[in-house]
Amino acid sequence: MTNTKIIKLSSNENCYGCSPLALQAIESNYRAVHLYPEVSPVALKEKIAAQFGVSPKNIIVGAGSVRIIDGLIQTYVGSDEEVLTFEKSFVAYGQLSGFQKRKCHFAPLSDFRCLPENLLPLINNKTRLIFIANPNNPTGTIITHVELEMLLSKISSDITVVIDEAYSEYSTNTSFPDSLALQKKYPNLVILHSFSKIYGLAGLRIGYAIMEEHKATRMIQNKIPFSVNYLSSDAAIASLNDQEFIHHSAISNAAQRDYLYSELTRLDFHVVPSQANFLYLWFDKEDEKKKVYDTLFQNGILICDLNVFGQQKSLRITIGKKETNQRIIAMLS
Ligand SMILES: Cc1ncc(COP(=O)(O)O)c(C=O)c1O
Repeated sequence: MTNTKIIKLSSNENCYGCSPLALQAIESNYRAVHLYPEVSPVALKEKIAAQFGVSPKNIIVGAGSVRIIDGLIQTYVGSDEEVLTFEKSFVAYGQLSGFQKRKCHFAPLSDFRCLPENLLPLINNKTRLIFIANPNNPTGTIITHVELEMLLSKISSDITVVIDEAYSEYSTNTSFPDSLALQKKYPNLVILHSFSKIYGLAGLRIGYAIMEEHKATRMIQNKIPFSVNYLSSDAAIASLNDQEFIHHSAISNAAQRDYLYSELTRLDFHVVPSQANFLYLWFDKEDEKKKVYDTLFQNGILICDLNVFGQQKSLRITIGKKETNQRIIAMLS
């Protein structure tokens, strides 16, 4: 290991940091930490609602979107009922189902994509909740508007479908679902968002979901009071006010994603085209993967060995800044 400072490209954080307006909001308000926050962050809910053209009654805010995932399982899946998602997707769906002793089934991916039609054979009368990460973590692929609507039109409205859009702002694909329009047509659709990714507030733990009012009311009944601290909600409001920062992060990410993807393919790596802020690499042999991981780590770059999620021959690299990506290519050349 050389003496350089480690650059962390293992958790899909925003390499450009967060909006300066968010930092300003924290700096001007931190002296009130001896006070409890509001029971529910009203101003943040109003801000999100205005941004999406819905009512604040449709919004749930949580200490990270994982907390909302947990709440959805707790609220909508009874002890004898089941969760359905995809294999090679965000691990928290299965983990949190397990913590709550709920059975979780996993549909296979097709060509690294979460194809909704692969879910259909696994749906039974116990299925209550379906989680789809879009873009998918770790493969970075998306499902399209048409594919999501096909699923919603074919399944019972008793099943809640959660479309997890933690990375949606990074997608440049015009077929990406207009999930808000679908949610108006199919009230069993829940749209999940995070402030941890493009908004750059991972350390503050804050996320939100948009859902039909009755569903939101049920979620609130199970919610721990004061669970969202006020510095997080102030920073989140400020971040939503700085769409220029979001735009800059998305554009820079897309340019660097193209660069890294084409250079890695030129070097003969197997890389999946991504719509997120990370790339998925798969290898024929585990030791080939280890060599790439070790080379980068020894040169101060930490990426994600997906072994920790049961994928022995894959790596996930968060897309960094231009200089970092150029270093990665130089090291692997
Ligand atoms: C698809 C997906 N959803 C949700 C999350 C969790 O985000 P949060 O930090 O808001 O809990 C992640 C984090 O990696 C993720 O990849």
